[in-house]
Amino acid sequence: MSADDWETHAGWWQRHFTDGVDPEYEEQILPLAETHLAGARQVLDVGCGEGQLSRRVARRGAAVMGVDPTAGQLVTAAARGGGVRYTRGAAEALPFSTASFDGAVICLTLEHLDPFEPAVHEVARVLAPGGVFCLFLNHPLLQAPGSGWIDDHILEEQYWRVGPYLPDDVAMEEVSPGIRLPFMHRPLSRYINVMADRGLLVEHMDEPPPPPGFVAKAPEYAEAATIPRLLLLRARKHE
Ligand SMILES: C[S@@+](CC[C@H](N)C(=O)[O-])C[C@H]1O[C@@H](n2cnc3c(N)ncnc32)[C@H](O)[C@@H]1O
Repeated sequence: MSADDWETHAGWWQRHFTDGVDPEYEEQILPLAETHLAGARQVLDVGCGEGQLSRRVARRGAAVMGVDPTAGQLVTAAARGGGVRYTRGAAEALPFSTASFDGAVICLTLEHLDPFEPAVHEVARVLAPGGVFCLFLNHPLLQAPGSGWIDDHILEEQYWRVGPYLPDDVAMEEVSPGIRLPFMHRPLSRYINVMADRGLLVEHMDEPPPPPGFVAKAPEYAEAATIPRLLLLRARKHE
């Protein structure tokens, strides 16, 4: 993803997905981040945006560092406070020394990076042995490009169609009128195996249903309430 895309659209992102307005963050992502990073004392939030995960984790007493290349995100992050330290940088070249954190999180950012492997390598480098890594993704299988609810009035069938899952896909998606951002798709095994190669071994996975507040805003999802939008992997850095 070009940093320019995010400089251009940082304000749009903040208005629609932060500061309490997005039910998936409020009801699902932020509580999951708090729970799964609970034991960590020195936490790095990679691609931290305007800092909503960072603030949530810092609330529990952890020392949190947020890193993001987008100035428009970091200015808002600093203004929103919460006892977090921020620095400008990219996931592919983290400006921190080896083994300097015991917790790390990447939330809804890796699917914008192509390639994504350097970011995972960097997280593995800066995480101390025994440290925890939480990765939040748009569910790679069930949200593969072309997936969606099908209501077939001729065959009288309703089902969730899964789009092409195995091939990589790079698309500029119009996520809202006039807002185009790049989204990459790759199968889940790629994430798991790149993590495992660097000693980040998955110990827990969550696939929660769309939360009630989201379904209330997008009633078409009520029918697809058995299909997760989000995937959380919690991995532990091999000793
Ligand atoms: C969808 S937002 C998610 C923000 C935050 N993680 C959250 O969940 O609230 C994606 C973020 O990725 C950041 N980003 C873009 N390129 C990046 C890179 N190369 N390394 C780290 N972050 C990047 C953007 O600036 C943006 O803040």
